[in-house]
Amino acid sequence: MSYRSLFPLAAAGLLACAQGPLPAPVDAHSLSRPDQVLVQHVSLDLNLDFEGQRVHGRATLELERIDTGAPLILDTHGLVIEAVRGADGGERQWTLGEEQGRLGRALSIQLIGDDAAVSVLYSSGEGAEALQFLVPSQTDGGQQPFLFTQGQAILTRSWIPLQDSPAVRITYDATIRAPRDLTVLMSAGSRNGPTPVLEGSKDVAPTDLWRFRMENAIPSYLIALACGELASHDVSERCAIWAEPGVLASAAAEFADVERMVQCAEGLFGAYQWGRYDLLVLPPAFPYGGMENPTLTFLTPTTIAGDQSLVSIIAHELAHSWSGNLVTNATWEDFWLNEGFTVYCEGRIMEELYGQERANMEGLLAWQNLEQELKALEPWQTVLNIDLAGHHPDDGFSGVPYNKGALFLKRVEECVGREALDPVLEEWFSAGSFQSRSTQEWRTYLLEAFPDLSAQMDVGEWLDAPGLPSDAPRPESDALTRVDGELQRLAEGSPCSELNSDGWVTGQWLRFLNGLPVGLGAKAMAELDLNFGFGVNGNSEILFAWLRLAIREGYSKADERLEEFLTTVGRRKFLMPLYEELCATPEGRARAEIIYRKARPGYHAVSAISLDSLFD
Ligand code: BES
Ligand code: ZN
Repeated sequence: MSYRSLFPLAAAGLLACAQGPLPAPVDAHSLSRPDQVLVQHVSLDLNLDFEGQRVHGRATLELERIDTGAPLILDTHGLVIEAVRGADGGERQWTLGEEQGRLGRALSIQLIGDDAAVSVLYSSGEGAEALQFLVPSQTDGGQQPFLFTQGQAILTRSWIPLQDSPAVRITYDATIRAPRDLTVLMSAGSRNGPTPVLEGSKDVAPTDLWRFRMENAIPSYLIALACGELASHDVSERCAIWAEPGVLASAAAEFADVERMVQCAEGLFGAYQWGRYDLLVLPPAFPYGGMENPTLTFLTPTTIAGDQSLVSIIAHELAHSWSGNLVTNATWEDFWLNEGFTVYCEGRIMEELYGQERANMEGLLAWQNLEQELKALEPWQTVLNIDLAGHHPDDGFSGVPYNKGALFLKRVEECVGREALDPVLEEWFSAGSFQSRSTQEWRTYLLEAFPDLSAQMDVGEWLDAPGLPSDAPRPESDALTRVDGELQRLAEGSPCSELNSDGWVTGQWLRFLNGLPVGLGAKAMAELDLNFGFGVNGNSEILFAWLRLAIREGYSKADERLEEFLTTVGRRKFLMPLYEELCATPEGRARAEIIYRKARPGYHAVSAISLDSLFD
């Protein structure tokens, strides 16, 4: 594969930055130069050092030399480089460039002759952003430590030296040494058990060897690893649920539909290309709801509600097996191509498996969240085709790429009809399989597929303008309209004991809690608590909405539960709004600072970095 095939439009001179024979690097978030020397395969040989909270070992990179005189340039962030060797075992000269903030430092390696591979001996640095080491008390079992990685968006460079750009695809294999009794899993579909390693001295803790191989070419942010006390439950031939032993039964019951979901998605988007589709439920410190690591979706345990009411997240991560993992955003400015498509596909799966009403309800809740968010974002952050010059990819993270992106596809569907859109989408996935794509490429593809589309909708406005276009299709949900009716009755003075809430599902409770008027007061809050027991609700989304309300309304009976939540759950989506709400008053802020000081060491770097901005 050549660099030209990575960026076909750039090579054809269709991108503004294309000048000279080959374009300048298109990815502003990588310091690497895949246009000169392209990494094609990474072979890892790593030790997981729980005591030192680092990984160390060797990464061997196989190369395609495009510009034979050029050095190999890799991304690193905090890595301690010990040596670089050629395939002949000889040392190669290397230098680390200036630190570029969170982009890290370029590792430049002088290649000799026809070097087609180099090995980098290294270890991760202190506080590597991709790695979260948990102490036993942060796990359910409480006996063993835990480690997981999170690569997206540009964190992989903090544990592996490579070309950390979503436009560069690699295959990988790995040999991982880990303490005995712990299980190692990777985003590689392997079900190999461990091989014991005999250590020379009995003082050294015994270790096992684990081997993995990913045969499909993937972007670097999808290389992932987890290690801890884990057990599995087979749902079908290709789907298993992994979790800590004490969590496994509830996880397996919650996600029992996973095989049905894969089959449904295959019907909609084409054959599943990754072999296995397993789920791994991590300890609650995991900073995201889910992460679509190929063959092994990583999940927060806060999706286990007891009634499968939060399984749309599985539909979402599974849908990434097409939108994101098969066809990947070329740069982080094209992030909406991953997430907007995925939210659209998630909706299609939910509709088919759980019915139109549930899909509409979830769609309308997302719409309402987006409306709220749009008020707070700066205009540039509300553009799908976002300009991230000078920004970290995280600065573009909001409901916009997700929900405005999905609404764009829904609008296209409205214009051309589902029957016409479906084959075009399937073709986008199959023709672009294992490749990276830009917004510009999607625009061209879409307008070629539907030459009359511009007469019906303004594609340019959707992609390039801020805010939500006026033709955005707003979902209708009778179930949520009924909730609004009850909110109205409450506002008119009817007591909450008379609320007509029989049979309400999670989405309805969320609409209810988020629709309660500001200034309810402590008495009404106590009454709600008494009638509905929100503070002891096992559904994390409902509990979160309740805790946020409790802070806003100064309902101190929820204080203890709030503190427990903030010190155990690391999911950024919950933490940010709760701390923000606390910081809205001086007393709340003082409390937030105390809790944060205690909780921060247990948070993942991505949550801590976001939260630090509140306490500057
Ligand atoms: N790929 C994302 C998570 C992500 C995005 C991690 C950007 C790092 C940078 C994942 O698919 C996702 O969107 N997760 C959502 C859940 C989803 C149901 C909207 C989350 O974590 O909340
Ligand atoms: Zn996603």
